[in-house]
Amino acid sequence: MFRRLKDCHNTNDFRLLAKQRLPSPIYHYIDGAADDEVTLQQNTEAYERCDLVPNVLRGVEEIDMSLTLMGKKISMPLFFSPTALQRLFHYQGERAVGKVAEEFGTFFGISSLATVSIEEIAANYQCPKIFQLYVHKDQGLNNSMIEKCKEHDFDAITLTVDTIVGGNRERDLRTGFTSPPKLTPSSFLSFATHPKWALNYLFREKFELPQLQDFVDQGTNITVSVGDYFSTMLDQSMNWKTVEDINNKWGKHLCLKGIMSVADAKRAVDVGATAIAVSNHGGRQLDGSRAPFDQLAEIVDAVGDKVDVICDGGIRRGTHVLKALSVGAKACSGGRMYLYALAAAGEEGVSRAMGLMREELIRGMKLMGCRTLEELGRHNLRFR
Ligand code: LAC
Repeated sequence: MFRRLKDCHNTNDFRLLAKQRLPSPIYHYIDGAADDEVTLQQNTEAYERCDLVPNVLRGVEEIDMSLTLMGKKISMPLFFSPTALQRLFHYQGERAVGKVAEEFGTFFGISSLATVSIEEIAANYQCPKIFQLYVHKDQGLNNSMIEKCKEHDFDAITLTVDTIVGGNRERDLRTGFTSPPKLTPSSFLSFATHPKWALNYLFREKFELPQLQDFVDQGTNITVSVGDYFSTMLDQSMNWKTVEDINNKWGKHLCLKGIMSVADAKRAVDVGATAIAVSNHGGRQLDGSRAPFDQLAEIVDAVGDKVDVICDGGIRRGTHVLKALSVGAKACSGGRMYLYALAAAGEEGVSRAMGLMREELIRGMKLMGCRTLEELGRHNLRFR
């Protein structure tokens, strides 16, 4: 079936449209995950193993989904996880996502591997901004990113702690996906049969990774797979002392993204993090890792009163967010949930995807008999 944006009513519809519009190496980079992709599947399936138990007759004509996350008031409990390489998926890239974050009054996550600069994002987008830091071996590069976030008044840094080496992304090995993309005999047909994408890529602004390119050639001028980038460029000696040092340099809200164990969650509190993202990097790193939603209750019980707990990954529906909030997450975040839409139709696509999620959240809250997020709790969930 030939799809258009108006045919998209849920995340999977955007996924199918993205598949239609993108050269296959790029689509599979977004859609794929590590090893057998078991964790990728589990991240969403975990939400289907429990049921919501609604209350009724509560007068829900007005509802309020606002909350304060990492010191910033946001208008809904869902935000854009930082994701890399966005101008490869659609020429508008981060510029589209930033606009939609503004439109919906929520956090915009910006990756170290973003294709638009910290300076430009700070100048143009008034939404709360969280920068995702990858700790590189090059200390000068790490310091430069932290300094720019300070200078340009970002609200928070989220330090990625689950990519100490690259995950084994077999789809990328099969398709030959690299950054920047390279033409191989096997990918040629795929690029040639997606001329709109190819023309945008070739004739619009050159693909760049502005946060990195003054320090490293890999990714911008030297083609490299994302797995190899992580394994060769990132600092595998990173430890809790590194977090303390970053916290001291940064001095504002610090989130650790990729915390899965209770022990690590407690340690995050001890070193001064103000938020943690329970996340397995969308199943792209350690396959066989537990789903964030399954691991959420133990973490909330241990540290939920001390830091903002974010549940990241697997979100495809508004009811998934309501389930995570019922367990005790403060907010949820996701990557693919908006990347398919970005690839499908740029800003218009992302706005439609986030609009649908917001409608699902509002409808779900009303059907649950909840006027505020505080009214959600474990009392309205049953695990099968
Ligand atoms: C990935 C990184 C770049 O998962 O976040 O591909």
